[in-house]
Amino acid sequence: MGEPLIERAAADLVKSKYAIALTGAGISTESGIPDFRGPNGIWTRNPEAEMAAYQTYDKFLRDPKEYWQAVSSGISFYSILRQAEPNSGHHALAELEKLGILKCVITQNIDGLHRKAGSRRVLEYHGAVNRLRCPSCSSRFEFEEYELDNMDEPLLPLCKKCQNPLKLDVVHFNEPIPSDVAHQSLEETWKCDLMLICGTSAVVYPFAQLPRIARQREAEQEKKAKSGLYFVKEVAAAAIVEINAEPTPLTRDGISDYIIQGKTGDILPQVVEMVKQLLDR
Ligand code: APR
Ligand code: ZN
Repeated sequence: MGEPLIERAAADLVKSKYAIALTGAGISTESGIPDFRGPNGIWTRNPEAEMAAYQTYDKFLRDPKEYWQAVSSGISFYSILRQAEPNSGHHALAELEKLGILKCVITQNIDGLHRKAGSRRVLEYHGAVNRLRCPSCSSRFEFEEYELDNMDEPLLPLCKKCQNPLKLDVVHFNEPIPSDVAHQSLEETWKCDLMLICGTSAVVYPFAQLPRIARQREAEQEKKAKSGLYFVKEVAAAAIVEINAEPTPLTRDGISDYIIQGKTGDILPQVVEMVKQLLDR
């Protein structure tokens, strides 16, 4: 017999009509990519690096050349991300989508590993490391379309559509979430009746607000219904399930219904196995 919470999560998934998954850096640590705030996290080991990361977007606004100077050293880190392979946690979520149960993954990760694992509906909330984006006209370009490595100094890739400076399609601290992704993610949050939250410390906003919206939305709807002013449909409460190495503010604030504590790479495949057994019954 599996662990009771694994069985509970599998049963909740099979019962759900519209399940989505929210993921963070924790789901990629088993692919060799360090997270940020876990015991060996990038920020845990180097708090100054996190402080510096808060300046990156301002640099772009002030002087795109200075921004490209600053990020070109990070580009080697980004190339490590691009070489990483998905792990069993990513594959398990891709399989849940193939089973018709998981409708969307909203990820904070810029490593592209959900798509590499075969997930098709993926919203990259903080962008992706293999693309460039034009903040002026929102056009996006594949990295390969601009040979940054052999561009002459100072590096300054310009948009092919409007000639304005491009930046990495990575969302830096203090940078707005691209509006297309922000809206789609809110829509998914309002539509879902089950939210799996995998491998995130849930301390970075606005991403960490999504589970709170899912939790509070039935209260919102009730308020609207009671006001007698809105034409609203009853929405079922969303079941919110955390899968994480450690409890988070979502656990402590009672936003999640339960947490399955451990590694996503171990837990998610067991949940999928249990889902398949329940579907075969
Ligand atoms: N399985 C489950 N949980 C894990 C695993 C694992 N294999 N490895 C690490 N974790 C947990 C950590 O304990 C931590 O709680 O995953 C969480 C990762 O949290 P963070 O490192 O804060 O990463 P994340 O939540 O994605 O950070 C959000 O912060 O710096 C920004 O833009 C960056 O997108 C990132 C955002
Ligand atoms: Zn442009």
